Amino acid sequence: MNKNYIIPNEWSILEEGFDNDNVKASESIFSIGNGAMGQRANFEEDYSGSTLQGSYIGGIYYPDKTRVGWWKNGYPEYFAKVLNAPNWIGIHIKINNTLLDLNTCKVVDFKRELNMKEGWLSRSFNAVLQTGEEINVTTKRFISVAFNEIGAIEYTINVVNFSGTIAYTPYIDAGIVNEDANYDEYFWKILEIYDGENAGCILSKTLKTEFLVATAMKVSFALNNKEIKLQQHTQKLEKKLDYTYQTKVSKGDTLTIFKYGTYVSSLNETPDNLVKKAFQNVEEAEKLGFHNLLETQKDAWQKIWDTSDIIIEGDVKAQQGIRFNIFQLNQTYMGTDARLNIGPKGFTGEKYGGSTYWDTEAYCIPFYMGTKDASVAKNLLLYRYNQLDKAIENAQKLGFTNGAALYPMVTMNGEECHNEWEITFEEIHRNGAMVYGIYNYVNYTQDFDYIPKYGLEVMIAIARFWYQRVNYSSVKNKYVILGVTGPNEYENNVNNNFYTNYLAKWCITYTVDCLNEVKHNYTDDFSRIIATTKLTAEEMYQWLNVADNMYLPYSEENQVYLQQEGFLDKEIIPVSQLPVSEKPINQKWSWDRILRSCYIKQADVLQGMFFFENKFSKEELERHFDFYEPITVHESSLSPCVHAILAASIDRTQKAYELYLRTARLDLDDYNHEVEEGCHITSMAGTWMSIVQGFGGMRVWDDGKLTFNPQIPKEWKSYSFKINFRGQIITVYKSQTTCKFYNEVGEEINLLEGNSKVK
Ligand code: BGC
Repeated sequence: MNKNYIIPNEWSILEEGFDNDNVKASESIFSIGNGAMGQRANFEEDYSGSTLQGSYIGGIYYPDKTRVGWWKNGYPEYFAKVLNAPNWIGIHIKINNTLLDLNTCKVVDFKRELNMKEGWLSRSFNAVLQTGEEINVTTKRFISVAFNEIGAIEYTINVVNFSGTIAYTPYIDAGIVNEDANYDEYFWKILEIYDGENAGCILSKTLKTEFLVATAMKVSFALNNKEIKLQQHTQKLEKKLDYTYQTKVSKGDTLTIFKYGTYVSSLNETPDNLVKKAFQNVEEAEKLGFHNLLETQKDAWQKIWDTSDIIIEGDVKAQQGIRFNIFQLNQTYMGTDARLNIGPKGFTGEKYGGSTYWDTEAYCIPFYMGTKDASVAKNLLLYRYNQLDKAIENAQKLGFTNGAALYPMVTMNGEECHNEWEITFEEIHRNGAMVYGIYNYVNYTQDFDYIPKYGLEVMIAIARFWYQRVNYSSVKNKYVILGVTGPNEYENNVNNNFYTNYLAKWCITYTVDCLNEVKHNYTDDFSRIIATTKLTAEEMYQWLNVADNMYLPYSEENQVYLQQEGFLDKEIIPVSQLPVSEKPINQKWSWDRILRSCYIKQADVLQGMFFFENKFSKEELERHFDFYEPITVHESSLSPCVHAILAASIDRTQKAYELYLRTARLDLDDYNHEVEEGCHITSMAGTWMSIVQGFGGMRVWDDGKLTFNPQIPKEWKSYSFKINFRGQIITVYKSQTTCKFYNEVGEEINLLEGNSKVK
C-alpha cells in the first residue's frame, strides 16, 4: 500500500493531521536545501519518537572503513559518506517545566507545508501537554539560496490557556552520528566551543579527512511582536552549546524566537577565518532579519522557476509531482561548484552516502542543460575530468594498464567506494555513461571546445579500458565482454550484456571521431593530448577493430537484442501475473530467486535504445518495448522515466502517462516503501525528461538540430515547459487542441523540421 497522505496542491507539499508513523517519511519529503547544504525536515523542538536527524554539507565527507562479509581483492578500503553535520536548528522548549515533545503530548490541527514557489518549510499545530497547558505553535524555516551558508527559523508560540513560564533553549549539537556508520564511530572531533551574546559557534573537524566546519547560531526574541532582551544562561557541554532563556507569559501572549544558523567550511574559507566568518554570517543574517531574508529567498526561487517551471493544467497531482521533482533537484545541486555533485538521495537522507553515481551523466545532465546556463552541466563534466587520475588509478588496481580508466560506481573524491563485487568490478557500463554525458553536452550546447580542452583525455582513457576489457572469442569470431552486470542489477556476472557491449562499441567510435575532428581543427590541443597520452595511430586502429567486431546478442526468432547471452533460457512470465503480495520482489524474494527470474529491475536494453534512439527504427523500438516492458519491475527509481519516454516515442501516450505518474510521485506516494530513508533525487531528473523528451518529444539529433513532437495525455488540459537551448529560452505549450512554441523575445527561430517555426 502506498502511504498517499500528501495533499495535492499546485505549488506546495501539504500534510494535515499528525501521525507518528509518517514523521520519518515527511522528514524526507519536506527536506530543504540550497545546493551547498541541506537538511531533513526534523522538528526544531524535541521529538522522542522515531526520527532520522539529518543535516548535510555538500563536499564534507568521511571515509568510513569498508564493512563486507567476505573480503575480495580490489575492494576499496572505505566508503565515503556525506556526514551528518552539527545540528543548529534545535530548540528545547519547556512550558512550566514540561518539555514540548510531539510524541508525548496531544497534537491537534497539525499542518506542514513545503512551499516550493518561495522555498520555505512551515508547520503549525496546537499542543496540549500532559499537564494541561495548551500552546499554538507556528514555525517557518528555510535555507537561503541567496546567502548559501545561511539558514533561518521563525518559531512562534501562542499561549492558549495558561499563565506561567516558557523556557527555551536554542542549541548547537555537534554530538551527531551517521545512522549508517559501519562501526558506530563518531566522525567529528570538537576543536573549540565559542560562546557570545545570543550567539555561539562550535568549531569541529572531521576525522581522517580533516575538513573544518564552524557551525554558528544567533538568536533574538519578540514578545507580542516587540523585540525583547533576555538574560542568557550558557551551558557548554562536551559536544554541545546551549543557551537557556525564560519568559513569563499569560494567556494570549505570543512569543517568537528567531534563530539563524550557518556552516562555514574549510572547502571555502581558510582555517583561521572560519569562526570569524561564521559569527559574521549569523550577525549579518540577524541584522537583515527573518522577513528580509525570506524576501530574498522568494526572489531567488522566482529566478529559478522562471527558467525551469513546468505547468500542467487539469491534473493537480501531476503538477505537484513535477514541481516537487524540479524543486528537490535545485535544492540538491545548483551547479556553481565543480567539486560538488548530485547524490541519489541529495541532502534528504544517508543512504548511498551522498556520493556520485552514473545517475549524474545518464539522467541529471539533460535537466541541468535544459533549465540552466551551460556552465552548470559543464561543471558536472569537469567534476569527472578532475577525477581522471583517480579513475586511471582505480583501473590500475584492477590490473588495467596504459592509462586505461575505470570511473567508480560510487565516489566522493574520485576513488571507488562501492564494495559488492558484482557491482564494483562488474557494473562497468558506468564508464560509458561518462562519455555519453560528454557527447550529450557537446551536442546540446555545441561547445565542441570542451572536447579538446578536457573531454578527449577522459574518452581516450575510457576507450583504452574497453579495449582491454574485451576478449576475442574464436567461437563467435567476435569481441565479447564477459562477467558484467548491466543496469539491471537483478542479473550479475552475465556475458555480453547488450547495453554494455553497445555502449563500449559506441564509446570507441565516438572517441575516434572526436580525435579526427581535433586533429584537423585543434592542432595544438591535438599535439598536447598525443604527447600526454602517447596515443598512436596503431592503437586507434586496434580500438576500431574491436568496435567493428563487437558481439551483440540477438534473437532472430523474436527479432530483439537480448539483454545478455542466454536470456531466452529463462521462463518469461509477465510482471502482471505476479501476485501483488510478492512485490516488490527485492523485499519479498530471496536474491537467488530474483537472479534466476526473468524480472528486470530497471531499463537495460531499453536504456541503450533511449540513449541511441536515432540508431533504431520505430518498429525496432516497438518490438523491444513490447518484449521488455512486461517483464520490468521498475524497482529502481531510474527505470519508469526511461520507459515513459520510449512509450511516448512509439505513441503509447497512456502508457507513458501511467509510467510518468509513477516516476513523478515516487516519493510523494512512496511507491517503493522507503521514502523514510530519503528521496530519490537523481531519478527526479528522469521525471523532467519524461515530460520534456517524453510528452514534449524534444530531441537534439546528432547534427545538433532541435525538434519537438508534442503529445498530451487525455487527463491533462494542457502543459508547457521551458528549455534553455543555447542561451535562448524556448517555451513549448501543448493543449488538447493546439501546440505553440515561443521564445523569450518573440523572435522567430527555425525549430522544427518541415519549416515549422517558433512563434
Ligand atoms: C540502481 C543504480 C543507481 C543507484 C543509485 C540503484 O538501485 O540500480 O542504477 O545508480 O541505485 O541511484
